[in-house]
Amino acid sequence: MSAPVPSFVDAPEPPIAPAVVQTYNLTKTYRTGFWLNQQVTPLSQCSLTVQPGETFGLLGPNGAGKTTLLKVLLGIVRPTSGRATLLGQPVGDRTVKHRLGYLPENAYFYDYLTGIELLQYTAGLFGLSMPEQRQRISQLLDMVELDPKAIYKKPLKKYSKGMLQRIGLAQALINDPEVVFLDEPMSGLDPTGRFRVREVILALKEKGKTIFFNSHVLSDVETICDRVALLDQGQLLCSGTLNELLGTSASYRVSGRGGNLEVLNKWLPDLQFQRGLWHGILNGEPYDFLSSLRGMGGTVVDLKLARPTLEEFFLDQISQRRSAK
Ligand SMILES: Nc1ncnc2c1ncn2[C@@H]1O[C@H](COP(=O)(O)OP(=O)(O)O)[C@@H](O)[C@H]1O
Ligand SMILES: [Mg+2]
Repeated sequence: MSAPVPSFVDAPEPPIAPAVVQTYNLTKTYRTGFWLNQQVTPLSQCSLTVQPGETFGLLGPNGAGKTTLLKVLLGIVRPTSGRATLLGQPVGDRTVKHRLGYLPENAYFYDYLTGIELLQYTAGLFGLSMPEQRQRISQLLDMVELDPKAIYKKPLKKYSKGMLQRIGLAQALINDPEVVFLDEPMSGLDPTGRFRVREVILALKEKGKTIFFNSHVLSDVETICDRVALLDQGQLLCSGTLNELLGTSASYRVSGRGGNLEVLNKWLPDLQFQRGLWHGILNGEPYDFLSSLRGMGGTVVDLKLARPTLEEFFLDQISQRRSAK
């Protein structure tokens, strides 16, 4: 007798988490002018997806439509056409709001509240009990590195831009959201402030949160994001991981001084000389080249991946698009 054939028909399908953000041909048009007879389209046919746990950076010059996209996703602004879902629900759905955190671009705070009052007020809106509030607020103050003494006494109107951004971040995280939307979280901050915000984002990422942030500062994005998308004049130009967009070429741009010209030429076929240094492209890993150079008594002054930086890529994409128009 043959063994029974196992049946897979009734095997349960593994659950697939829905995309956190999904947009399809999302478009927003505003009527402007005194007679409302002119139109601006800050968002045109935008389709993108953000998966759970991703840190996604939406890049674009000022006026590209980044804030508009965020506002549509958060249900603050209604799209003119197209579709968008957030955590599997249509945007604007109230049942997912408690799972979201939002730091607006120009957060407006009540001038005469102290920082702690603002946080307690927001915690109250989310229904946190007093002991929960105390615990959560003290965790958040640690996380954003705000001095509790300052925020108990000073009204918000006396806070510096950096302090406001930190309190805004704490406010956005008070409900321990699964998805955090940050609109230009680094703008106007000094290097210490930027470092702190970056650390907060990395800590959220480590906890598995999904982070969607807008920025026109590319260096921030390069170091934190899993995936980026480029928006220009309301249109998405491209999206992908940095490796997908910039390439994974293992070539290096190398500059230095000294060494043996004949040997250098073998390693760096397009060797050039400028301002007392040699420059060239090294194909493959640099270790053997470096030890050979040391053997020749030469030194390396600069060594970096030959692929374009995000900034070069970004400028190139924008100028290509504008010249194709
Ligand atoms: N409520 C509005 N009414 C009319 N135009 C708007 C409105 N909001 C934004 N815009 C316009 O849409 C464009 C994109 O704005 P925004 O989304 O704020 O860009 P970004 O955040 O990338 O700087 C800008 O030209 C802006 O003037
Ligand atoms: Mg903006």
